[in-house]
Amino acid sequence: MPRVARSVSLPLALDRSAGVPLSRQLYRALREAILSGRLRPGEALPASRRLAEELGISRITVLQAYDDLRADGYITGQAGSGTFVAALPRPPHDAPDAAPGRASPAAVRTPDGSERLPRVPLSAWAQRVAAHQPLRDGGLRPQRRLRYDFDPTAPDWASFPQGVWARLLGRHLRGAGTALARYGDPAGYGPLREALAAYLRAARGVPAEPGQVVIVSGTQQALDLLLRLTVDPGAAVLVEEPGYPGVRAAAAAYGARVVPVPVDAQGLVIEQLAAATAELDRPLAVVHVTPAYQYPTGAVLPLPRRLALLDWAAQSGALVVEDDYDTAFASPQRPVEALTSLDRHGRAVYLGSFSSVLLPPLRLACAVLPPTLVEPFVAAKWLADRQTPTLEQQVLATFLTEGYYTRHLERVRALYRARRAALEEAVARELAGVARLAPTTAGAGLHALLWLDPRLDEAAVVAAAAELDVAVYPASPCYTAPEHPPALLLGYAALTAEEIHEGVRRLARALQGLLR
Ligand SMILES: Cc1ncc(COP(=O)(O)O)c(C=O)c1O
Repeated sequence: MPRVARSVSLPLALDRSAGVPLSRQLYRALREAILSGRLRPGEALPASRRLAEELGISRITVLQAYDDLRADGYITGQAGSGTFVAALPRPPHDAPDAAPGRASPAAVRTPDGSERLPRVPLSAWAQRVAAHQPLRDGGLRPQRRLRYDFDPTAPDWASFPQGVWARLLGRHLRGAGTALARYGDPAGYGPLREALAAYLRAARGVPAEPGQVVIVSGTQQALDLLLRLTVDPGAAVLVEEPGYPGVRAAAAAYGARVVPVPVDAQGLVIEQLAAATAELDRPLAVVHVTPAYQYPTGAVLPLPRRLALLDWAAQSGALVVEDDYDTAFASPQRPVEALTSLDRHGRAVYLGSFSSVLLPPLRLACAVLPPTLVEPFVAAKWLADRQTPTLEQQVLATFLTEGYYTRHLERVRALYRARRAALEEAVARELAGVARLAPTTAGAGLHALLWLDPRLDEAAVVAAAAELDVAVYPASPCYTAPEHPPALLLGYAALTAEEIHEGVRRLARALQGLLR
């Protein structure tokens, strides 16, 4: 290899206040010079003594950086006999294009002459995901934290039993032995599966055996895995219109044909199922429903519709995915049993989430699957993330079996019902004639749907409310159709009655400003 017997003078900027040892800074600067081609193979590095003098650092620091570069294969030679850039394969920044037809990984020069990194070539799946990018916080959350935030998915943080949870975390952390040093069962922590099977049998009438219960990191993960398991590109997935946007986006990402089925004041309009699917020349994979508290309208699906839906599913071959998000708050006087409790054909999956009763970022939910679906689902879960974190599952199991869950639920149920009443009162008083709440018989969830005067535009309302420090959330992500009656999702669980009243007062001002 030719060695250029010439030492180089490099612009090396070292920063003593950076909190990174100077030898590491020097190592990184030289490595970057080598990888970018500014230092070529065979080129000599400055003698350590000289470089130390130039940079005003100790020679030991330079020798340390050279030792590390040598150990990693960037340079060769020894102190005293000269240090040279090693013969590396072509520096990555000079690499030729990857596969033909795909975007070049080489840096792209923009019109202003600067370089930006090339795009990573993306799969068709990723491009379909990107089409739903606004689903992520950007589309639903205000840019900054607003004083009166009607976040439809936020439970009341102050009510969360932080002390109990912390104690149980400590208890399990200390008592788990070596179990926490190993991967757990991808289907979930055994005692939690048992506790949930018992709870769901009693509270929701779901005929769940522990072996059918799989713990997942949120309902969203269960939806994603179920769609992976049932959707080949082109298969039809039926969703409520309006409905939960997360299921529509996931189905579209897997290449499904997403078929919206209208919702009325009693939930999914079953008679429309046949119409919606009559023209389809493709297999029906899944129908997603929120029967106990329709998302976002709050409608409750009555018994005749439930039976008709299950019949239709048995005939059409579709899997019914019952998304029971938000229903733990159902009226205790008239609890509506889960749709899955009526399933006689093994075609229904029950999904229950702890995001609304406990906390969304805990990422704890469960799926109750027909026996034949358990194994494929657990295999898919393993591939996705191996398992849901063990410690949180252990804590939740104890939280359920020692009665904390029921006590917490009773407390927040009463609190949220009172907050919903405050919202109803405030809307009736402040918004009469310009907006009305969608009625529900389901007790209380975390949010209500507010139908707006048809002359109002959702985006304009969101912006005008934000000006008055109020965050409200458009219903449009819940719709497949671009045209629909304007509405807002108003979460009330995380606001006090006073905040609800003040927030609605301000919202009324915003609406009046727009209607003037
Ligand atoms: C109907 C519905 N399903 C699922 C989810 C997501 O739940 P999780 O936090 O369990 O993933 C939401 C969240 O808003 C929802 O409204």
